[in-house]
Amino acid sequence: MAAKWSPDSWRTKDIRQVPVYPDAEALTKAEAQLRNYPPLVFAGEARRLREALADVAAGRAFLLQGGDCAESFAEFHPDNIRDSFRVLLQMAIVLTFAACCPVVKVGRLAGQFAKPRSAPTETQNGVELPSYRGDSVNGIDFTPESRTPDPQRMIQSYNQSAATLNLLRAFAQGGYADLNQVQRWNLSFVEQSPASERYRALTEQLNEALAFMAACGMNSETTHQLRETDFYTSHEALLPGYEEAMTRVDSTSGDWYDTSAHMLWIGDRTRDPDEAHIEFLRGVGNPLGCKAGPTMTPDDLLRVIDTLNPDNIPGRLTVITRMGHQAVENKLPPLIRAIEREGRIIVWSCDPMHANTTTAATGYKTRAFNMIREEVERCFAVHRAEGTYLGGIHLELTGQNVTECVGGAREVTEASLKDRYHTHCDPRLNADQSLDLAFLIAEMLKDERQSRNGSAKISAIR
Ligand code: PEP
Ligand code: CO
Repeated sequence: MAAKWSPDSWRTKDIRQVPVYPDAEALTKAEAQLRNYPPLVFAGEARRLREALADVAAGRAFLLQGGDCAESFAEFHPDNIRDSFRVLLQMAIVLTFAACCPVVKVGRLAGQFAKPRSAPTETQNGVELPSYRGDSVNGIDFTPESRTPDPQRMIQSYNQSAATLNLLRAFAQGGYADLNQVQRWNLSFVEQSPASERYRALTEQLNEALAFMAACGMNSETTHQLRETDFYTSHEALLPGYEEAMTRVDSTSGDWYDTSAHMLWIGDRTRDPDEAHIEFLRGVGNPLGCKAGPTMTPDDLLRVIDTLNPDNIPGRLTVITRMGHQAVENKLPPLIRAIEREGRIIVWSCDPMHANTTTAATGYKTRAFNMIREEVERCFAVHRAEGTYLGGIHLELTGQNVTECVGGAREVTEASLKDRYHTHCDPRLNADQSLDLAFLIAEMLKDERQSRNGSAKISAIR
């Protein structure tokens, strides 16, 4: 029997990766302020996402989750939001059209401000200061003032999330996402790349399909699915104080929902079921994610699942594996076999970013496109061999023309990393690299579908 849960029951548990605020009263005040703020998302939307993810778990759709490693106050600009939205839409179109697979779109956006760090402090030239933990905690500049955790930053994160979400809702529902606009989503700086050539060819085919449908009487006026799209938000629920303040009872179901985002996930460093982060999330009705790195054992994973999804509700839990391109074959099968043996229903997603981070000779933290691609390919292959379905991808990306990950068709070299290295935390794929990856995944999904159709036909003949 699970112990009683309440929005603040996490406070009695051990906790990692949260800041130490020098002014406890200021923290209490900021949390009280947030408790009175309007919800950012509604319980009904979170339930709709859970249903969409149940389709993913059943192999009928694919989850595309992506966005900044860390959003920042400095880069808050409508063009940045539009470009991230646009590259995710482009990728979704590639996957939907090339692989004939419905895509559930979830941004790492409108709330992704807090970061776990490998060390609590950072030392530069003999000076030791608290590590940067994301803009909702402290500032990135290496000064004592900036690095001191300030609870008012949670208020600024809330406000930026609200404005971001408002724009995303307008983009998704207000005509920008109309399928008749697909060729206009091509970002100007990717226009010359091989990925954009492929994208242009795909939009031409899509336009023909749309013209055919229009001739049959289905157009943007008559068919809202052509005119608008569902777009959901997510972030790592690293600051339980913030999440608790945003957690409200849903008047329809009487259940608790965390209204800061549709989906919340738990990082690889905070996933101990006896500790605070899992304690908080187990009580909210939102769909949840949990990262699984190379140290996750099958028993650990089963305990996480027992705690977060004891009723085995499809779509409730997405397990996001991030093993590293060389560890997939070793680490993933034992997890898959345990889940299959115990009959647990989850969405399997692949984060090919977080275990493939390296440091370039020039000192920049980077990721090689080839390693990212390899982790995705190996993850698909392992799932196919185990007879399970890889239902999603979790990426750090941006619509900006950054030079943060090396490689890709229009190659970013180690020497060019310095040109446009803007991330506030981990290196992101740029739009070109993201689109490249989407075509690759579409191919794998297509193969997957054909092989499943093939085996369905064979079993029907038998
Ligand atoms: C992240 O998603 O930014 C992150 C910190 O990932 P992980 O918990 O998998 O290391
Ligand atoms: Co990251």
